[in-house]
Amino acid sequence: MKLDAYRTWDDERARRLIEAVAHLPGALLPVLHSLQDEFGYIDDAAIPLITDALNVSRAEVVGVIHFYHDFRTAPPGRHTLRVCRAESCQSMGSQALAAHIEERLGTPMESTTADGEFTLENVYCLGNCALSPAVMLDGRLYGRVTPERVDALLAPALTATGGAA
Ligand code: FES
Repeated sequence: MKLDAYRTWDDERARRLIEAVAHLPGALLPVLHSLQDEFGYIDDAAIPLITDALNVSRAEVVGVIHFYHDFRTAPPGRHTLRVCRAESCQSMGSQALAAHIEERLGTPMESTTADGEFTLENVYCLGNCALSPAVMLDGRLYGRVTPERVDALLAPALTATGGAA
């Protein structure tokens, strides 16, 4: 999802989202997903709101956030590029593909470019193994991705920001 689709962090909005799902059994995961869907990440400021609403410890909340790879603790870039690193994609060249992307964007996997345009994330199976290697750009899935194809996928955003295409 593009960052434009996310709201800027807002304590009051976060409190309302937490209250909306706090009654669910095992509410912690739905709460965290709801916050990330809204803001693109889970701000530190969410933790006391969650501990109060769900009567759980800070350690429990932080532990769950760090256990699940999908939760972010910092705002993502305007575009999120996920590269599958699971077995099928690895066997079809995802390591070299990731290295190409890192070089192309000048930032390592699991980071955001200095201009805030791209966040690069490793994922472990996008459910597209028959078309390995797979990537997901802003929520859209692509298969049989070569370095040339990924350059073509990135080109519109790089052109728009003046990056080298
Ligand atoms: S291993 Fe990459 S999509 Fe399944």
